[in-house]
Amino acid sequence: MSDVLTISDTLTVEGGRPLSGEITVRGAKNLVSKAMVAALLGETPSELLNVPDIRDVEVVSGLLSIHGVGVEHDHEAGILRLDPSNVESAHVADIDAHAGSSRIPILFCGPLLHRLGEAFIPDLGGCRIGDRPIDYHLNILREFGAIVDKQPSGIALSAPRGLKGTVIDLPYPSVGATEQTLLTAVRAEGRTELRGAATEPEIMDLIAVLQKMGAIISVDTDRTIRIDGVDRLVGFRHRSLADRIEAASWASAALATGGDILVKGATQPEMMTFLNTFRKVGGAFDVLDDGIRFWHQGGDLTPIVLETGVHPGFMTDWQQPLVVALTQAEGLSIVHETVYENRFGFTEALRGMGANIQVYRDCLGGSSCRFGQRNFFHSAVISGRTPLTAADIEVPDLRGGFSHLIAALAADGTSNVRGIQLINRGYEHFMDKLEALGAAATLKA
Ligand code: EPZ
Repeated sequence: MSDVLTISDTLTVEGGRPLSGEITVRGAKNLVSKAMVAALLGETPSELLNVPDIRDVEVVSGLLSIHGVGVEHDHEAGILRLDPSNVESAHVADIDAHAGSSRIPILFCGPLLHRLGEAFIPDLGGCRIGDRPIDYHLNILREFGAIVDKQPSGIALSAPRGLKGTVIDLPYPSVGATEQTLLTAVRAEGRTELRGAATEPEIMDLIAVLQKMGAIISVDTDRTIRIDGVDRLVGFRHRSLADRIEAASWASAALATGGDILVKGATQPEMMTFLNTFRKVGGAFDVLDDGIRFWHQGGDLTPIVLETGVHPGFMTDWQQPLVVALTQAEGLSIVHETVYENRFGFTEALRGMGANIQVYRDCLGGSSCRFGQRNFFHSAVISGRTPLTAADIEVPDLRGGFSHLIAALAADGTSNVRGIQLINRGYEHFMDKLEALGAAATLKA
């Protein structure tokens, strides 16, 4: 990787310059990592294309390796070859060491139970954006017949009688829980019906991967997914859909800095909702054959009322970078976060840079959500336009961190952004991209 960063890395950013130029996004982090897990289910090797050079891919590669999967990664071509012929149990300490802060290990459970009859997962990390429990996952695995044993070092699972198809009703259309069900049901005995499923494009792409492997899966318009279990699955060859979160992050960076960015590789269908919002705020875009160009048209940006939600709603991961651009709109914007209860922590640093953002426990903006009567600051009111000034900031999580970076790029003066290595989890070669876009950003050792 060209962005090998260490734990103490700090980025010094001289802000106030529009980001302009051309960059490329490759496959979606949130599909690639799941397709890699799906490869465990095949009897023959799989090949995944359009794979980005990001830390999360390294983490899952490490986890697959310690479970006996052969992993070959051509970084430049973006091709991963995964050979699951010799899947084996891994040592607890190795799993712990490789899992890092990732939540992906929970998705290994179904495939490992099918392949080995047992699985173990350590305490899970992931971005600090709420409680992020795994109760749905464990309940689903129990429904299929797994025995879940919570131990001090993690969770041990076994399936002495195999896994059997079942009916699952999700309390919320969780992405991970839907993936858990898919990855477990495809090889379970009989039919599984999943009600209240998430239908994000990354999930539909995972279904395409599983279908290539031999699975039988149908998706209804009412969020019901039916899976007929099969006895064997083979390897797949698949090109990942584009990373719509990364694409939208650069689009927001163009808006916040008054710039003009051609995001090659970005695709329109998965970004429709973002594009509508981008246009309402006053941003311009042009869908080209090989990507999408995003730019600030000059003049004032328009404030908006926005609610995040599950697909086809406005993604929670698009919210944070866009909020930075909203600090530059003339008037009051309202953002209601309905996916995670605690995803406005990043606004504190923006306030320190001069943004006028207040967070509220109430559901603002029209509809009420499941966090409404509880003690979570999940609505934000952004009052603009406020100039941003440079500051020393600490990256809190992946998307919040990218937002801080955008704020530093838009601000007057020199900012120091600490803990920048977290951004590497989901934004490939972001230092090279910043350079290509004319940013004045240098790494301090
Ligand atoms: C995925 O997380 C993504 N991560 C997230 O992206 C994304 O924000 C999220 O989906 C929503 O789109 C990956 O794909 C690796 P959920 P996931 O299960 O699957 C609650 C990024 O920056 N919940 O849909 O973990 C949960 O607390 C990351 O790329 C339970 O209560 O999200 C949340 O409020 C961040 N119990 C809601 O459901 C459970 O067992 C939705 O979470 C599971 C989830």
